[in-house]
Amino acid sequence: GEWYGEDIERVVVSAEAIQDKVTELAERVSADLAGSEEDVILVGVFKGAVMFMADFARSLTVPVKMEFMALSSYGDATTSSGTVRILKDIDSDIKDKNVVIVEDIIDSGLTLSWLLKYLEGHAPKSVTVVSMLRKPGMQHTDIPVDYLGFDIPNEFVVGYGLDFAERYRELPFIGVLKPEVYQD
Ligand code: PRP
Ligand code: MN
Ligand code: MG
Repeated sequence: GEWYGEDIERVVVSAEAIQDKVTELAERVSADLAGSEEDVILVGVFKGAVMFMADFARSLTVPVKMEFMALSSYGDATTSSGTVRILKDIDSDIKDKNVVIVEDIIDSGLTLSWLLKYLEGHAPKSVTVVSMLRKPGMQHTDIPVDYLGFDIPNEFVVGYGLDFAERYRELPFIGVLKPEVYQD
C-alpha cells in the first residue's frame, strides 16, 4: 500500500523533538533513581508504549528490569470503550520494587488509573509514571504523572506507538490524523 504521509493532517511532535524529550526524561528519572537499593522495574504498557519503552530504556543510566503488560481499552475505535482488558500481564513479582510505568499517552486517564490500582495491589515499594503525552480534559485529574513529555491538544493523534485501528504505530513522529481517515 501507500505510505501514510497522505493520511496525516499535521505533525504535532517531530521525531527530533521526541528524541530530545526521551533524553531529558531519562536523565531526570535516572537522577531520581540513582542509588536505589531495590530493583527498578519498568512496566511498559503495550502496544502503545513500544517505541517509547525501547528508546527510554536505552537512554537511562541506571540498571532496570523490564516487564511488559498489554492493555486495551480502545480497540479499533477513536474513543475509549470504558473498560480495560489485560491482554498480557507482568511475569515477575514487583513486591517491594520501585516500579516505573511507561505509557505513550494519557487521554481519559482510565487506563492509567486502572493500572495504578492494579499494580498497587502487588505491594510495590513505589510506583511512578512516565508518559510521553497527555491530553486535556482527563476525567481522572487526581492521577499523578511524575514525568511528562508533552501536553497536546485534544485531537486524535497517531505515530510513535499510537495507533488508529492498529495502523500508524511505526511513524517516527506524532501527528494528527485527517478526519476523513476515521470518518469513513
Ligand atoms: C491507548 C494508549 C493508552 C490509553 C490511553 O491504548 O496507548 O494506553 O489508550 O487512553 P485513556 O487514558 O483514555 O485510557 P489502547 O487501549 O488504544 O491500546 P494500545 O496501547 O494497544 O493501542
Ligand atoms: Mn495503550
Ligand atoms: Mg490503541
